[in-house]
Amino acid sequence: MTDSVKLNAAGKDLDLKVLSGSVGPDVIDIRKLYAQTGMFTYDPGFTSTASCDSAITYIDGDEGVLLHRGYPIGQLAEKSNFMEVCHLLLNGELPTKDELDKFSYTISRHTMLHEQLATFYRGFRRDAHPMAIMCGVVGALSAFYQDSADITDPQQRMIASHRLIAKMPTIAAMAYKYSIGQPFMSPKNNLSYTGNFLQMTFGVPAEEYVVNPVVEKAMDRIFILHADHEQNASTSTVRLAGSSGANPFACIAAGIACLWGPAHGGANEAALNMLREIGTVDRIPEYIARAKDKNDPFRLMGFGHRVYKNYDPRATVMQQTVREVLGELGVTDPVFDVAIALEEMALSDPYFIEKKLFPNVDFYSGVILSAIGFPTTMFTALFALARTVGWVAQWNEMISDPEQKIGRPRQLYTGPTQRDFVPLADRT
Ligand code: SDX
Repeated sequence: MTDSVKLNAAGKDLDLKVLSGSVGPDVIDIRKLYAQTGMFTYDPGFTSTASCDSAITYIDGDEGVLLHRGYPIGQLAEKSNFMEVCHLLLNGELPTKDELDKFSYTISRHTMLHEQLATFYRGFRRDAHPMAIMCGVVGALSAFYQDSADITDPQQRMIASHRLIAKMPTIAAMAYKYSIGQPFMSPKNNLSYTGNFLQMTFGVPAEEYVVNPVVEKAMDRIFILHADHEQNASTSTVRLAGSSGANPFACIAAGIACLWGPAHGGANEAALNMLREIGTVDRIPEYIARAKDKNDPFRLMGFGHRVYKNYDPRATVMQQTVREVLGELGVTDPVFDVAIALEEMALSDPYFIEKKLFPNVDFYSGVILSAIGFPTTMFTALFALARTVGWVAQWNEMISDPEQKIGRPRQLYTGPTQRDFVPLADRT
């Protein structure tokens, strides 16, 4: 391992320090590059840039490894539950029984929304996309919870974090209820975090809602699979918003807005719509040809990843969960058959092999969510619900970093050089 690299730039020989983490690629410390050379680095899309140091999540894209505080995602999905994973991501360790009971109790006591927030929903059309509602309502939380908006106070930061984790299921369920014209359901704190979400979503005042344990476990596992993922676009958005000192509710609303994009969290909705459009296995070759056609903007949604150049380990668990849930519910969905066949055909096609394009977390998730009863428009809202713990954990890590400063990238300017103003009368 080297401790520095040499660079000759602007006629100067520089020794740039190399920093090493606990695992993964070393980084070249270029913080003084501009001061020493008057030059910037250039990395649109940040394909080769580490924006921060973090101890929360580690991804080895070549090996298809995903660790949360060192624990492999497959083990967490199989043996843990979402409340435990929330504690792990936020506090760094799996909770003891007492810690878990206290954490779950704390979260359950923040599940209600201020009653006036319910009126926000009435301002939306019934057919508003749930992510539009999530952006609006989560941002509006900052108008109601000023007592936990002082980011310099660790206790207020943790209260805001607990509030966001606890209220996202309520906000998401209310968005769904509003879209179908059913009354909002109050949280029930005697249920698990995930069971409570299911009852707020699918329960009705007219009868007692019975949580299906198979669905509860599958939903809880889906939340675990979406909880955090290093410095992805929406997490980087939350960090950048937080670096200015914005309150946590506004930062998470910014993350929700970024996640909505079809290249990111919006891919789960787009992937199921794509599978339904393909419809039958015999039409798959036509769509694979389109995905390979440089002149066609179509891409296989749920395929490819900036970091994973191997199978996304979350997709592996997701596919197994589809089989379990469809089997337990006695549901057959031809779309699942199309997904399996599409994966097989794509992964044997030189184009996908050479470009190392594999299914990602979004490829199979829609099949399960649809089987449980969610409309495709709710899929990304569910991703946002689960990712909130990752966002707040990363935000806390950044804010508590004594070296933290506002994020302010530079650019390669390609516009006009200085010129004088031309009066209107002289313009042709
Ligand atoms: C998520 O970052 C994260 O961690 C995100 C996430 C998380 O948990 O936070 O994992 C969640 O966002 C998963 C990704 C969901 N998005 C999709 O499934 C949308 C479809 N996938 C792509 O748009 C794409 O793969 C991205 C956006 C995911 C990654 O894009 P990159 O890294 O910028 O790669 P690229 O666009 O430069 O693609 C490399 C090549 C290109 O061909 P060439 O220009 O080199 O010839 O692969 C091709 C692309 O055209 N390609 C695809 C493809 N994805 C990439 N071709 C067909 N179908 C695809 N899906």
